[in-house]
Amino acid sequence: MISAVIFDLDGVIVSTDEYHFRAWQELAKDLGVPFSREDNSRQRGVSRMESLEVLLEKSERSYTRDEKLALAEKKNMVYRELLAQLSPEEILPGAMEFAEESRKMGLKIAVGSSSRNTPFILKKIGLTDYFDAVADGNDIQRSKPDPQVFLIAAERLHTPPEKCLVIEDADAGVEAAKAGGMSALAVGAAKEHPNADIRAESLDGLRVAEIMGLLS
Ligand code: BG6
Ligand code: MG
Repeated sequence: MISAVIFDLDGVIVSTDEYHFRAWQELAKDLGVPFSREDNSRQRGVSRMESLEVLLEKSERSYTRDEKLALAEKKNMVYRELLAQLSPEEILPGAMEFAEESRKMGLKIAVGSSSRNTPFILKKIGLTDYFDAVADGNDIQRSKPDPQVFLIAAERLHTPPEKCLVIEDADAGVEAAKAGGMSALAVGAAKEHPNADIRAESLDGLRVAEIMGLLS
Protein backbone atom coordinates (compact mmCIF):
# COMPACT_ATOMS: atom_id res chain seq x y z
CA MET A 1 0.00 0.00 0.00
CA ILE A 2 1.61 3.26 -1.17
CA SER A 3 1.62 6.09 1.37
CA ALA A 4 4.08 8.55 -0.18
CA VAL A 5 4.98 9.89 -3.61
CA ILE A 6 8.52 11.06 -4.40
CA PHE A 7 8.77 13.31 -7.45
CA ASP A 8 11.94 13.74 -9.44
CA LEU A 9 12.35 17.46 -10.24
CA ASP A 10 13.93 18.05 -13.68
CA GLY A 11 11.64 16.58 -16.33
CA VAL A 12 8.87 15.56 -13.89
CA ILE A 13 7.88 18.74 -12.05
CA VAL A 14 9.57 21.32 -14.22
CA SER A 15 10.89 21.58 -17.73
CA THR A 16 14.60 22.41 -17.32
CA ASP A 17 15.94 19.93 -19.90
CA GLU A 18 16.44 22.50 -22.61
CA TYR A 19 18.38 24.82 -20.24
CA HIS A 20 20.69 21.96 -19.23
CA PHE A 21 21.20 21.14 -22.91
CA ARG A 22 22.00 24.73 -23.91
CA ALA A 23 24.45 25.19 -21.02
CA TRP A 24 26.32 21.92 -21.77
CA GLN A 25 26.28 22.77 -25.48
CA GLU A 26 27.94 26.12 -24.78
CA LEU A 27 30.67 24.44 -22.72
CA ALA A 28 31.21 21.80 -25.42
CA LYS A 29 31.61 24.55 -28.01
CA ASP A 30 34.20 26.33 -25.84
CA LEU A 31 36.13 23.08 -25.51
CA GLY A 32 35.78 22.14 -29.19
CA VAL A 33 34.07 18.86 -28.28
CA PRO A 34 31.12 17.49 -30.30
CA PHE A 35 27.92 17.30 -28.24
CA SER A 36 24.56 15.91 -29.38
CA ARG A 37 21.05 15.49 -28.01
CA GLU A 38 21.92 11.84 -27.58
CA ASP A 39 24.88 12.72 -25.34
CA ASN A 40 22.56 15.04 -23.44
CA SER A 41 20.00 12.30 -22.87
CA ARG A 42 22.72 10.23 -21.15
CA GLN A 43 23.15 13.10 -18.67
CA ARG A 44 19.53 12.82 -17.53
CA GLY A 45 19.21 12.04 -13.82
CA VAL A 46 22.92 11.83 -13.08
CA SER A 47 25.02 14.35 -11.14
CA ARG A 48 26.69 17.43 -12.59
CA MET A 49 30.18 15.87 -12.42
CA GLU A 50 29.00 12.62 -14.05
CA SER A 51 27.24 14.68 -16.72
CA LEU A 52 30.55 16.43 -17.38
CA GLU A 53 32.24 13.04 -17.80
CA VAL A 54 29.68 12.18 -20.52
CA LEU A 55 30.60 15.39 -22.35
CA LEU A 56 34.36 14.82 -21.95
CA GLU A 57 34.19 11.29 -23.40
CA LYS A 58 34.61 12.90 -26.82
CA SER A 59 37.43 15.20 -25.75
CA GLU A 60 40.89 14.57 -27.13
CA ARG A 61 42.65 15.85 -24.02
CA SER A 62 42.35 14.84 -20.41
CA TYR A 63 41.56 17.20 -17.55
CA THR A 64 42.69 17.26 -13.93
CA ARG A 65 40.16 17.05 -11.10
CA ASP A 66 40.50 20.82 -10.48
CA GLU A 67 40.02 21.62 -14.16
CA LYS A 68 36.90 19.44 -14.19
CA LEU A 69 35.50 21.24 -11.15
CA ALA A 70 36.09 24.56 -12.93
CA LEU A 71 34.37 23.28 -16.10
CA ALA A 72 31.35 22.06 -14.11
CA GLU A 73 31.18 25.42 -12.35
CA LYS A 74 31.33 27.22 -15.71
CA LYS A 75 28.44 25.14 -17.05
CA ASN A 76 26.48 25.82 -13.89
CA MET A 77 26.96 29.60 -14.20
CA VAL A 78 25.46 29.50 -17.72
CA TYR A 79 22.67 27.17 -16.51
CA ARG A 80 21.84 29.49 -13.59
CA GLU A 81 21.68 32.46 -15.97
CA LEU A 82 19.22 30.55 -18.13
CA LEU A 83 17.22 29.55 -15.04
CA ALA A 84 16.77 33.24 -14.21
CA GLN A 85 13.81 33.21 -16.61
CA LEU A 86 12.20 30.13 -15.00
CA SER A 87 8.68 30.71 -13.70
CA PRO A 88 5.70 28.65 -12.46
CA GLU A 89 4.58 28.56 -16.12
CA GLU A 90 7.27 25.96 -16.74
CA ILE A 91 5.78 23.51 -14.28
CA LEU A 92 4.99 20.48 -16.45
CA PRO A 93 1.34 19.68 -17.34
CA GLY A 94 -0.30 17.42 -14.76
CA ALA A 95 2.45 17.70 -12.12
CA MET A 96 0.56 19.98 -9.72
CA GLU A 97 -2.70 18.10 -10.25
CA PHE A 98 -0.94 14.82 -9.41
CA ALA A 99 0.65 16.33 -6.29
CA GLU A 100 -2.65 17.89 -5.15
CA GLU A 101 -4.61 14.69 -5.66
CA SER A 102 -1.91 12.74 -3.79
CA ARG A 103 -2.28 15.13 -0.87
CA LYS A 104 -6.07 14.88 -0.90
CA MET A 105 -5.74 11.09 -0.74
CA GLY A 106 -3.62 11.43 2.41
CA LEU A 107 -0.31 10.58 0.74
CA LYS A 108 2.85 12.42 1.71
CA ILE A 109 4.79 14.10 -1.09
CA ALA A 110 8.51 14.77 -1.56
CA VAL A 111 11.10 15.78 -4.12
CA GLY A 112 14.04 13.45 -4.84
CA SER A 113 16.46 15.07 -7.29
CA SER A 114 20.15 14.78 -8.22
CA SER A 115 20.23 18.53 -8.82
CA ARG A 116 22.14 20.77 -6.47
CA ASN A 117 20.06 23.61 -7.90
CA THR A 118 16.86 22.11 -6.42
CA PRO A 119 16.31 24.83 -3.75
CA PHE A 120 16.84 27.57 -6.38
CA ILE A 121 14.50 25.92 -8.88
CA LEU A 122 11.77 25.28 -6.29
CA LYS A 123 11.98 28.96 -5.34
CA LYS A 124 11.70 30.11 -8.96
CA ILE A 125 8.56 28.02 -9.49
CA GLY A 126 7.03 29.04 -6.15
CA LEU A 127 7.16 25.60 -4.49
CA THR A 128 9.78 26.10 -1.77
CA ASP A 129 7.53 25.08 1.13
CA TYR A 130 5.10 22.96 -0.85
CA PHE A 131 6.51 19.46 -0.30
CA ASP A 132 6.61 17.49 2.95
CA ALA A 133 10.30 16.76 2.33
CA VAL A 134 13.06 17.51 -0.17
CA ALA A 135 16.20 15.44 -0.80
CA ASP A 136 18.57 16.66 -3.50
CA GLY A 137 22.07 16.69 -4.94
CA ASN A 138 23.33 18.60 -1.89
CA ASP A 139 22.43 15.67 0.39
CA ILE A 140 24.09 12.81 -1.45
CA GLN A 141 27.46 11.21 -2.17
CA ARG A 142 26.15 8.78 -4.81
CA SER A 143 23.83 9.84 -7.59
CA LYS A 144 21.14 7.85 -9.42
CA PRO A 145 21.05 4.93 -10.30
CA ASP A 146 22.14 4.62 -6.65
CA PRO A 147 18.98 4.91 -4.52
CA GLN A 148 20.54 7.25 -1.92
CA VAL A 149 18.52 10.37 -2.77
CA PHE A 150 15.21 8.50 -2.67
CA LEU A 151 16.10 6.68 0.56
CA ILE A 152 16.85 10.04 2.20
CA ALA A 153 13.53 11.43 0.94
CA ALA A 154 11.68 8.37 2.32
CA GLU A 155 13.44 8.73 5.66
CA ARG A 156 12.50 12.41 5.83
CA LEU A 157 8.89 11.39 5.16
CA HIS A 158 9.14 8.69 7.88
CA THR A 159 7.90 6.22 5.29
CA PRO A 160 9.44 2.80 4.51
CA PRO A 161 10.78 2.51 0.93
CA GLU A 162 8.26 -0.19 -0.07
CA LYS A 163 5.45 2.29 0.61
CA CYS A 164 6.93 4.94 -1.73
CA LEU A 165 6.10 5.57 -5.36
CA VAL A 166 8.83 7.38 -7.30
CA ILE A 167 7.99 9.37 -10.44
CA GLU A 168 10.91 9.56 -12.85
CA ASP A 169 11.77 10.68 -16.39
CA ALA A 170 15.33 9.25 -16.33
CA ASP A 171 16.36 5.63 -16.82
CA ALA A 172 18.91 6.11 -14.01
CA GLY A 173 16.09 7.34 -11.77
CA VAL A 174 13.82 4.36 -12.46
CA GLU A 175 16.77 2.09 -11.65
CA ALA A 176 17.46 4.03 -8.45
CA ALA A 177 13.85 3.69 -7.31
CA LYS A 178 13.83 -0.07 -7.93
CA ALA A 179 17.26 -0.48 -6.27
CA GLY A 180 15.77 1.27 -3.23
CA GLY A 181 12.83 -1.15 -3.07
CA MET A 182 10.29 1.43 -4.24
CA SER A 183 7.61 1.42 -6.94
CA ALA A 184 8.39 3.43 -10.07
CA LEU A 185 6.16 5.38 -12.42
CA ALA A 186 8.19 6.18 -15.54
CA VAL A 187 7.28 9.16 -17.71
CA GLY A 188 8.82 11.12 -20.58
CA ALA A 189 12.24 9.91 -21.67
CA ALA A 190 12.02 6.87 -19.33
CA LYS A 191 8.53 5.90 -20.43
CA GLU A 192 9.64 2.61 -21.94
CA HIS A 193 11.88 1.48 -19.11
CA PRO A 194 11.28 -2.26 -18.63
CA ASN A 195 11.78 -2.12 -14.83
CA ALA A 196 9.13 0.54 -14.23
CA ASP A 197 5.93 -0.64 -12.52
CA ILE A 198 3.86 1.81 -14.55
CA ARG A 199 4.71 3.70 -17.74
CA ALA A 200 3.02 6.82 -19.08
CA GLU A 201 3.73 9.52 -21.64
CA SER A 202 3.54 12.22 -18.92
CA LEU A 203 1.64 13.08 -15.73
CA ASP A 204 -0.88 15.03 -17.79
CA GLY A 205 -4.32 13.49 -17.29
CA LEU A 206 -3.12 10.75 -14.92
CA ARG A 207 -5.31 10.10 -11.89
CA VAL A 208 -3.55 9.16 -8.67
CA ALA A 209 -6.46 6.92 -7.63
CA GLU A 210 -6.07 4.89 -10.85
CA ILE A 211 -2.30 4.57 -10.43
CA MET A 212 -2.76 3.36 -6.85
CA GLY A 213 -5.30 0.84 -8.09
CA LEU A 214 -2.79 -0.54 -10.60
CA LEU A 215 -0.14 -0.87 -7.89
CA SER A 216 -2.26 -2.63 -5.29
C1 BG6 B 1 19.26 16.09 -12.74
C2 BG6 B 1 19.28 16.27 -14.24
O1 BG6 B 1 17.99 16.36 -12.24
O2 BG6 B 1 20.20 16.96 -12.12
C3 BG6 B 1 20.71 16.05 -14.74
O3 BG6 B 1 18.42 15.33 -14.85
C4 BG6 B 1 21.67 16.99 -14.03
O4 BG6 B 1 20.74 16.27 -16.13
C5 BG6 B 1 21.55 16.76 -12.53
O5 BG6 B 1 23.00 16.75 -14.45
C6 BG6 B 1 22.45 17.69 -11.70
O6 BG6 B 1 21.98 18.99 -11.82
P1 BG6 B 1 22.66 20.28 -11.24
O7 BG6 B 1 21.53 21.28 -11.25
O8 BG6 B 1 23.13 19.97 -9.85
O9 BG6 B 1 23.78 20.64 -12.13
MG1 MG C 1 14.59 14.01 -14.26
